[in-house]
Amino acid sequence: MANNEGKGQTALVTGASMGIGVDLAECFARDGYDLILTARSEEALKQVAARLSGAYGIKATPIPADIGVPGGGEKLAAEIEARGLAVDALVNNAGYGIAGAFEGSDRATQLGMIDLNDRALAELTHIYWARMLANKRGGVLNVASTASFQPGPLMAIYYASKAFVLSFSEALWKEAEGTGVRVSCLCPGPTASNFRERAGTGKTRLARTGTPMSSAEVAKMGYEGWQQNRRVVITGARNALVARLVPFLPRQTVLSLVHNLQSPA
Ligand SMILES: NC(=O)c1ccc[n+]([C@@H]2O[C@H](COP(=O)([O-])OP(=O)(O)OC[C@H]3O[C@@H](n4cnc5c(N)ncnc54)[C@H](OP(=O)(O)O)[C@@H]3O)[C@@H](O)[C@H]2O)c1
Repeated sequence: MANNEGKGQTALVTGASMGIGVDLAECFARDGYDLILTARSEEALKQVAARLSGAYGIKATPIPADIGVPGGGEKLAAEIEARGLAVDALVNNAGYGIAGAFEGSDRATQLGMIDLNDRALAELTHIYWARMLANKRGGVLNVASTASFQPGPLMAIYYASKAFVLSFSEALWKEAEGTGVRVSCLCPGPTASNFRERAGTGKTRLARTGTPMSSAEVAKMGYEGWQQNRRVVITGARNALVARLVPFLPRQTVLSLVHNLQSPA
């Protein structure tokens, strides 16, 4: 049910041109948050901004930016400030994965994953964190993955990058305890979006194990979890069960299982 909790506040959503980011932005808009939408695709951002401002009567500002380059977060923040906007809630959603063996992979693409999934996320959080604490409201919703809970042979950097997001988010959740600032880490399992196409995970055994959840469903769970300041939100009962079981399994078994799931079907 929509409420007006976001009235007078602004949410910055990264990766808001498509996929889960668009649906997360819509959840915030529905509750009255103004939006700053960012990603590289300017036209798509403009369309999302026009649709959401029209549907929910909020202000939505599209700002195209590549935050995956060093300094990208600072540059975006400078642009936000120059437009006289402030950020109360930060949704670090932009990210990508690449499937396949580490050997023979493209180094720039591998390192780019760390730059976007981790460095930019930490950079933007660092920029807006002090203001959130001072205002005793708002917070951070980080998008990690079920990949966060174990190492991922044949998708090694992606899994490691998402483990960083989970660890960082949980630590900040604790640092913010009792302040009024919310921190949640959304951990989706396979979700219908462009992610799979870019990651090249469509031909893996994992891709054959079930039907992906819709991005709208995933975003709703993430947003509602954040509203309740839930530390970790895992989408889907099976995903949640697996994530809880993993620490009790021998690591060799976990590695073999994931290696198998990430292998071509
Ligand atoms: N789909 C899944 O199965 C799944 C599962 C678990 C976790 N996740 C996570 O969910 C998040 C959202 O993914 P999605 O499924 O919605 O994928 P998606 O449809 O590919 O969307 C990714 C978003 O990130 C943006 N982006 C990519 N590179 C960027 C860059 N350098 N600078 C700024 N923005 C950039 C993209 O926009 P532009 O291309 O316009 O820049 C797009 O808006 C990611 O962090 C992903 O790791 C996804």
